[in-house]
Amino acid sequence: MKRIGVLTSGGDAPGMNAAIRAVVRNGIYKKLEVMGIRHGFLGTIKNTYHKMVRGSVADIIHRGGTVLQTARCDEFLSPAGRAQAAENIRKAGIDGLVIIGGDGSMRGAQLLEQEQDIPVACVPATIDNDVGRTDFCIGFDTAMNTVIDAVNKIRDTATSHERIFVVEVMGRQRGFLTLHAGLAAGAESIVIPERPLSIDDICKKLEHGFKRGKKHSIIMVAEGVGGDFQVNRDLYQSKAFSLAEDISRQVGRETRVIILGHLQRGGNPSARDRILASRMGAHAVDLLLAGEKSVMSGVVHEQLVHTSIELALAEEPALNKEMLELAHILSL
Ligand code: F6P
Repeated sequence: MKRIGVLTSGGDAPGMNAAIRAVVRNGIYKKLEVMGIRHGFLGTIKNTYHKMVRGSVADIIHRGGTVLQTARCDEFLSPAGRAQAAENIRKAGIDGLVIIGGDGSMRGAQLLEQEQDIPVACVPATIDNDVGRTDFCIGFDTAMNTVIDAVNKIRDTATSHERIFVVEVMGRQRGFLTLHAGLAAGAESIVIPERPLSIDDICKKLEHGFKRGKKHSIIMVAEGVGGDFQVNRDLYQSKAFSLAEDISRQVGRETRVIILGHLQRGGNPSARDRILASRMGAHAVDLLLAGEKSVMSGVVHEQLVHTSIELALAEEPALNKEMLELAHILSL
């Protein structure tokens, strides 16, 4: 292997830049040429290949977003699109790819290797943290801290007005971010796809709290609750508004909604995400050099591990039930 490519794909996640930096610098250290590819898989089709040197990744470890930019690429969903990508990758003299992204990107990477025999090594990066065979994905820790910071602020105004707030947190199919941030932020209720609560459960808890003299209530809801997000993102209707209406009607208190939205994907990566990204990015290069096929780097119990993309995608990452129970107990 003489030349590798690196791209970021799918939703961006804070820490992607630190991963790109590690791929480029470890690659060069290991005597490889490293080509950056802009705009994710779309760039493999549109030929956005460019040589990267150590200086190309200077001054980016602390920055959110991705300097290679990213995209969700419809062309790549078809075998013809992947064949075109593979032709271009070969023409660019690239012998293997590092793909930094979430489960959708990993699925694309797997197909590229299966159909076109292009070696791929994936680095899991998504604030949803919904990839199997790794304890953490790049971006999750930063996003969690962003959510906590936002909820701290909402709590101030909620207390002043003695209001209920429904806070919608990102997480297309899973509730990792909502659960972890909800526990850390001291939310009164956590509503996630893995364990949706009934409106009666939520309201009973709220009424109990207000009787005890609580001045505010924060209900944290994962955007994936309700499921229509999975069917068609363009038709997505937040469940937070109907939930707030139902609560307000039942409890008889002012209820406000805040959709935290894409601000959760921005911001300087936390120390944890920078370290995780640096380790997994460098590891992915080593995996390609070791001749691993269709592989993903991960971290389990703080140790770097590697696993097949197939297993990482097949295994549903388990939500921590003890944390869910604890969040409930602590908010009673
Ligand atoms: O997968 C990461 C994520 O941020 C999800 O939490 C969210 O549902 C989705 O991406 C939003 O995607 P887009 O930025 O394409 O609207």
